[in-house]
Amino acid sequence: MLSTVLILACVVAPALSNDFLSGFTHEAIADPTHGRVNYVDQATALAQNLTYASGDTLILRADHTTVLSASGAGRNSVRLQSNKVYSNHVTVWNIRHMPQGCGTWPAVWEVGQDWPNQGEIDILEGVNDHGPDQATLHTNSGCTVGGTRTMTGTSTGDNCDVNATGNSGCGVTSTDASSYGPAFNAAGGGFYAMERSNSGVKVWLWLRNSGSIPNDVLNGGTSVDTDKWGTPLADFPSASCDMASHFGPHNIIINLTFCGDWAGAVFANDGCPGDCTTYVDENPSAFINAYFDVAWLKVYQ
Ligand SMILES: *[C@@H]1O[C@H](CO)[C@@H](O)[C@H](O)[C@H]1NC(C)=O
Ligand SMILES: *[C@@H]1O[C@H](CO)[C@@H](O)[C@H](O)[C@H]1NC(C)=O
Ligand SMILES: *[C@@H]1O[C@H](CO)[C@@H](O)[C@H](O)[C@H]1NC(C)=O
Repeated sequence: MLSTVLILACVVAPALSNDFLSGFTHEAIADPTHGRVNYVDQATALAQNLTYASGDTLILRADHTTVLSASGAGRNSVRLQSNKVYSNHVTVWNIRHMPQGCGTWPAVWEVGQDWPNQGEIDILEGVNDHGPDQATLHTNSGCTVGGTRTMTGTSTGDNCDVNATGNSGCGVTSTDASSYGPAFNAAGGGFYAMERSNSGVKVWLWLRNSGSIPNDVLNGGTSVDTDKWGTPLADFPSASCDMASHFGPHNIIINLTFCGDWAGAVFANDGCPGDCTTYVDENPSAFINAYFDVAWLKVYQ
């Protein structure tokens, strides 16, 4: 399921879903964004079937059966981080389903060890089923993405500096309502791809029911040619953001938290009932669809 290949070259390490178990670490850490989550280790995740890897299916889910005590830990969930780090590379995620439900805050993203000095690239992220997707860069000072940008999405701002933007960074929101949450799932999910190069960062999305998925994406080819992928959802050109000085080696991360700094803060605004933490504690069955189903991830280098 996880393959590392060379851009425009051959598959180096084709692999099956179990490679998410050997190539990634389940991090049982406290969520720095203060989520109502209890990230569990791999043994616990497998024992509770929160992580399930078989054939071309990787399921990553939160507990959806336990009523939580307000004074106890948050909802069990998983955070997987790649053991390898990547600088210039392309990732293609074939995702059938993403977590949905009030209070959910799922993310597919990449980050360096020294945040924000080594940068952060958010590919698929949102909260409370409230689309569309927003792809975002977070950096230290001196990285902006003004000038000519060729993309289908809408910029939330040009300055990627977390200090200058209250941690928000520079985002691009998709114009496609099906890019996130229940609408994404109703479309059968799709393919999110990200290219990081000396020229900047680009993010593409093709829904599964789109007629225009490039063959190398659709088939998880042994090589990819991003020049033929058409206009990306998000374009973060390097003209005013030197990649080498703002982005270090990145780990690939996929995680699911609840409430916290973002999902909790806008819970009521997003039409969710009551208080986020109480909702997460008391309504386990609301999280039956709070899962990722990943067919594969391919990394090209
Ligand atoms: C674990 O989860 C998978 C995927 O949802 C499911 O197919 C399987 O039946 C579950 N196993 C158990 C023992 O519940
Ligand atoms: C943010 O600002 C503080 C204080 O102004 C400064 O010390 C720090 O280096 C800045 N961080 C970044 C990432 O620019
Ligand atoms: C994932 O984990 C990172 C860092 O541990 C955190 O900043 C982020 O908010 C988390 N996101 C989700 C969706 O859990």
